[in-house]
Amino acid sequence: MNSKFRSSVLSFPTLVLAGVFVGSVAGYSLGIQIIDSGRVRATGSRSTSFRNFETYHFSGSSLCSPCHDRLNSTDETVISLVSDWTQSLMAYSFVDPLWRAKVRSETLRNEHLTGLIEEKCVRCHAPMASVEAQYSNSSIDLFGSEGLTQESNPLYSAAMEGVSCTFCHQILDDPALGTDEGNSGKFKITEAYPSLWERPIFGQFDQVQTSQMVGSVRYLPQYSAHLHESRVCATCHDLKTPYVDANGDLVTDKEGNLVLFPEQMPFREWSNSIYGADEGSSDYTRCHECHLSHAEPTPLSRIPGQLEAREDFSKHTFFTENIILLEILDAFDRALGIGDVDFSEVKAEGEVYLSGAGMVEVKSVTVDEDNQLWAVVRVENFTGHKLPTSIPIRRAFIHFTVVDQRNDSVLFESGRPLADGRIQGVDADGDPSLFEPHYDEITSGDEVQIYEGIMENTEEEVTYTLLRAARFAKDNRLLPYGFDKGSVEDDVKPAGACLEDPNFIGGEDEVTYIADIHDVPISHLMIRVELLDQTLSYRFIQDLFQDSGDSIVSRFHSMYEPFVSRFETIESVEVALEMVN
Ligand code: HEC
Ligand code: HEC
Ligand code: HEC
Ligand code: HEC
Ligand code: HEC
Repeated sequence: MNSKFRSSVLSFPTLVLAGVFVGSVAGYSLGIQIIDSGRVRATGSRSTSFRNFETYHFSGSSLCSPCHDRLNSTDETVISLVSDWTQSLMAYSFVDPLWRAKVRSETLRNEHLTGLIEEKCVRCHAPMASVEAQYSNSSIDLFGSEGLTQESNPLYSAAMEGVSCTFCHQILDDPALGTDEGNSGKFKITEAYPSLWERPIFGQFDQVQTSQMVGSVRYLPQYSAHLHESRVCATCHDLKTPYVDANGDLVTDKEGNLVLFPEQMPFREWSNSIYGADEGSSDYTRCHECHLSHAEPTPLSRIPGQLEAREDFSKHTFFTENIILLEILDAFDRALGIGDVDFSEVKAEGEVYLSGAGMVEVKSVTVDEDNQLWAVVRVENFTGHKLPTSIPIRRAFIHFTVVDQRNDSVLFESGRPLADGRIQGVDADGDPSLFEPHYDEITSGDEVQIYEGIMENTEEEVTYTLLRAARFAKDNRLLPYGFDKGSVEDDVKPAGACLEDPNFIGGEDEVTYIADIHDVPISHLMIRVELLDQTLSYRFIQDLFQDSGDSIVSRFHSMYEPFVSRFETIESVEVALEMVN
């Protein structure tokens, strides 16, 4: 170990971790103790002590905060990588009570595959525990009395930390990264290092000082281009899953290979959009540019002082629109074992972020001689992938209303959100075997434009069980700009009636609403349109709660209860008709 650096670490005022998470405490203290044997350990309060762990490959995030929090950017803002990440969902991928409930529910429905399911689900949601288990040839047990969710399990802390610093920064630049062979959690991490001091930490910067990290945390920071590219996200964010038939047998092709369902494909969607199609184009925008916010030049570390500020610095905010999960983490943080974390800022940021995800407008309105109002509503998707994207349990929809302004009476309404989480008129919310088709024209309040992926099983029945999902019966999630629904590969091809809708195209969709306005004079009409988002669709939740007899599912059930009526607004507009006439 570099002895000069060692003494500089030891000269820090305190060596004990403050009770609360280090990164957010003013006048912080160093969470590292250099123990005589040379092993790096740390201490901490019980609730967040999992953030200080050390295994052969990985370390907890609190070991990084002395140097990578409270960085002074050249625009005088203060940037804290660790505390920002601590407020992001990837820090809670294993804590996530919905994830736990869903894994449990999947295993209850296919008990004979419990081991396989748990191992698969842990791969991306607790990647550090998964890697350690893989390399020590141990199997994964999740909920048993010695399972990963128990503090007594040796890999408990590594699991609890979720998708953390020393995991992402050690993903190897393998040729398979960003292809089907490297996605679905098939990332590679070095199995055995020449020495512990040579454990790599890859970053987007060249010519970095290494002695500080080698000395304190025993990682060797070094440049690698792949951290800067979308394919590093793809290894977990594109996910294809095997599925079973009605007998519970895994479905295979003639050669005996598992047949896979493209469950989450944001990377491939992005590759087919203007943002990901062509690296040379001015539209090219990596996942990072939308999900990690850009910072003015900032030094990478507090120690040593006087480091040069680096351009192309990315804050670790990992913006999310999954506000309901942030709400649950915030409300139940202690019960979930994560200590006190303040999510208020990220919840507010999430709402702002979502409001930039899309747009809705009334493009034209006419009234014919039969008192029929024809309104063309146009929606746009500004994200780099489908909207909503990824796990097909979310839905965006149009709430369209025509009112008589004189007394605010409703003449026509489609897509009204209800207090119990249903959307009025939506078939799936009344009957689990049905779903609302895609529309180009809507003529009654029973018809609602919902942008969603609806999965079906091998018997062509609607399913919400991930392990039964064979294909999409409907996938009309709004396409990103540049996406050509006719020519894209099957894995990301939309499904259902939207394929025949001529104005459902890359970046946008138009829906014509035809409403009877009776004898109300045109100048008294007002149209209100909202593009709304429901993070957890009503039917998905009801389907999950069929397993609420189980304690892990019922735990999530009770945490979700206060938020059943939650809908998020992407955009809303009001148009008084005299103005558009
Ligand atoms: C290849 C990596 C990967 C694997 C394997 C994986 N997931 Fe995920 N999972 C993700 C990602 C990425 C997200 C976030 C995407 C999103 O929010 O839409 C996610 C989100 C989820 C969510 C939504 C969480 C929330 O709070 O909204 C659930 C539920 C979930 N996964 C269940 C599972 C189950 C069950 C399994 C095992 C069958 C599994 N996952 C396996 C990557 C993975
Ligand atoms: C004692 C201070 C210190 C600690 C603790 C520390 N780092 Fe660093 N880190 C540095 C310094 C110094 C640099 C290089 C700065 C430079 O040369 O501009 C750096 C650079 C990096 C880089 C950029 C590498 C590149 O080539 O782009 C990453 C990523 C990184 N650290 C991650 C971590 C992680 C993860 C941890 C916790 C396990 C950690 N660091 C702990 C001081 C530290
Ligand atoms: C989900 C993966 C992921 C996690 C988790 C993660 N990072 Fe990063 N980190 C990245 C990526 C990607 C970049 C490169 C950003 C770019 O190229 O714009 C980066 C860049 C960095 C840099 C260079 C400066 C900057 O921010 O651009 C440092 C230092 C760093 N990370 C430290 C950390 C620390 C400390 C943690 C834990 C709190 C952490 N990272 C967690 C993916 C991750
Ligand atoms: C271990 C594999 C892994 C890697 C690598 C990874 N993620 Fe994630 N990410 C996850 C999982 C798992 C979740 C789901 C957490 C949850 O909600 O339970 C997630 C969630 C997210 C979310 C929140 C999604 C939501 O529900 O709103 C964002 C945003 C995100 N990741 C962005 C990124 C970006 C950008 C990168 C690349 C720099 C990246 N991730 C790399 C596994 C990964
Ligand atoms: C042009 C900006 C942009 C780019 C590029 C982009 N995203 Fe997003 N992403 C967004 C916005 C805005 C949202 C929030 C709206 C939503 O939920 O779809 C989002 C949402 C998500 C979510 C959460 C989905 C959900 O509904 O829970 C995940 C996961 C995600 N992005 C992953 C990625 C990955 C991986 C990449 C790169 C392959 C990427 N994004 C590229 C803007 C972008």
